[in-house]
Amino acid sequence: MLQRFSVLLLLLCSISSAYKILVFSPATSKSHLISNGRIADELARAGHNVTLLEVDFLGIVDSTTSAKLVKKTIVRTPRGMQEFRNVLQGFSEIVMEDGGLTELLRGNIQYQSAYNALCEELLERDDVFESLKAENFDGFFAEQLNICGFGYAKALGIERRFLISSCPYFSHVYDYTSLPAPYASVPFSSDMSPEPTYLERAKNMLNGLTCNVLLRYLHTKLDAIFRNKFGPDFPAVTEIVRNVDIIFLATDEIIDFSAPTLPNLVNIGGLGVDDDTTEMSPQVEAEMKKGKNGVIFFSLGTIANTSTIDKKVMDSFLGIVQKFPDYHFLIRADKYDKNTKERAKGVSNVYVSDWLPQPAILHHPRLRTFITHAGYNGLVEAARAGVPLITIPFMFDQNLNSRAIEKKGWGIRMDKLHLLTNPEAIEGAIREMLTNPSYTQQAHRIRDLIKTKPMGARERFIKTTEWVIQNGGVHELLTEGRNLSIITSYNLDILVPIFLFFLFFIIIPFFKLIGGFYYFSCFGHIESKQKKE
Ligand SMILES: *[C@@H]1O[C@H](CO)[C@@H](O)[C@H](O)[C@H]1NC(C)=O
Ligand SMILES: *[C@@H]1O[C@H](CO)[C@@H](O)[C@H](O)[C@H]1NC(C)=O
Ligand SMILES: *[C@@H]1O[C@H](CO)[C@@H](O)[C@H](O)[C@H]1NC(C)=O
Repeated sequence: MLQRFSVLLLLLCSISSAYKILVFSPATSKSHLISNGRIADELARAGHNVTLLEVDFLGIVDSTTSAKLVKKTIVRTPRGMQEFRNVLQGFSEIVMEDGGLTELLRGNIQYQSAYNALCEELLERDDVFESLKAENFDGFFAEQLNICGFGYAKALGIERRFLISSCPYFSHVYDYTSLPAPYASVPFSSDMSPEPTYLERAKNMLNGLTCNVLLRYLHTKLDAIFRNKFGPDFPAVTEIVRNVDIIFLATDEIIDFSAPTLPNLVNIGGLGVDDDTTEMSPQVEAEMKKGKNGVIFFSLGTIANTSTIDKKVMDSFLGIVQKFPDYHFLIRADKYDKNTKERAKGVSNVYVSDWLPQPAILHHPRLRTFITHAGYNGLVEAARAGVPLITIPFMFDQNLNSRAIEKKGWGIRMDKLHLLTNPEAIEGAIREMLTNPSYTQQAHRIRDLIKTKPMGARERFIKTTEWVIQNGGVHELLTEGRNLSIITSYNLDILVPIFLFFLFFIIIPFFKLIGGFYYFSCFGHIESKQKKE
């Protein structure tokens, strides 16, 4: 009797806490589809009824394996697709350039505008909207890349909204919370060496603030799109995103820069990563046995596309490979990259392929180091496998990640331009990595710290989500200043008058006083000379 009662109780509990959740997953890249799929699967595994909305921005949904346990709604957006592809292609083309503020701003404008157009296209699908609305979801998840999803969720009447910050805690995510971003210590928007110079700090801060202002502006374009569809009273999308219940950071606090945080910010880096056990083919298995002293894995991700990148990059890397005859190299190259495959034929200690099972390679005991562009998925996998890194960042969050790894002592950061102009530096970094055991020791420590953390990513993610939905949101955690304008948020209305006061009433009079003699003797002289002429 008691047993039956407890079974019933268990059943009741699991029914009452099963929520209906919508996960918004636009196809901005394969890796984003995969990470959003992991979010959806985790929620489904915890017993929730999850719908994954995949919006096919790039035409890659059918060929990408994302969530396995949930129901998918797929929306095609053929009209805006080409433009979005062009924008990403454009990023690939300038991958070797030293992106300054102009490129940063241009990149943001192109990306957000193309995304906004796709958002509008999604809103045209009334059939999708109505059927989703009829579901009465309890919770909504979307990434920070563009905030369209949060307007969509509001329109669908979903009140509990969660932001996934898929990159590290970025400058504009700070901006959503009104927490001041630590520009002096974290290289958000421009590179900073471990002991930043004045100029590096200034550049980082100015780039960051300019981007925040620009993004605030670009996001207001969404307001027009939503108001056009749902009427003039629809709230500003920026206001909706500022009021999200929780920000989940898809990064690991052990790997990331340690920086100011908030009570509604929860790190969930590595969520679902361990479940992705890729099988090694017999071919790759055999390659892992080669090399007298072990194996080195080289992969630059997809934005640095080896088909289109300057040929010198891969050529010079193959040159480096030949300097290490006691090691075997696995190189991931693009499917259409014939040059690298052709060039590698003459090199005995290398294997080039367009598909290599990354997690399995990273966990292989013969792997010595991973040379990577420092994209977040690879980092988390490497950290959990305890593999030290040589990082060659190209764009987006990659430099920030590289600097964090360097700071925490489990990797060496290399400038991408070394691939073109100074391959000896990269050769030196590999030698340092292979002869100095400190990197591997620290990588093992990072792995152990992550594995033995008091609360793992899964538990944090599920418990926080359920707690927030169960309580109708936990507004007690939200920051007071989240709705402030830029001027109030940065206290510009106080700082600027103070500065002006000092300038006009103290600094200028002071210089007039002490410089008076000089001033009159110099300018007075010129003036009198001019008068004479
Ligand atoms: C999930 O929700 C859908 C739509 O409301 C419903 O048809 C389905 O039965 C639910 N699934 C579970 C496992 O509760
Ligand atoms: C790399 O570039 C080639 C040639 O432009 C293209 O066909 C391929 O799809 C690109 N690869 C990726 C992963 O984007
Ligand atoms: C911020 O805006 C939200 C939504 O408009 C509102 O509910 C909330 O009370 C505001 N909070 C503060 C502190 O201004």
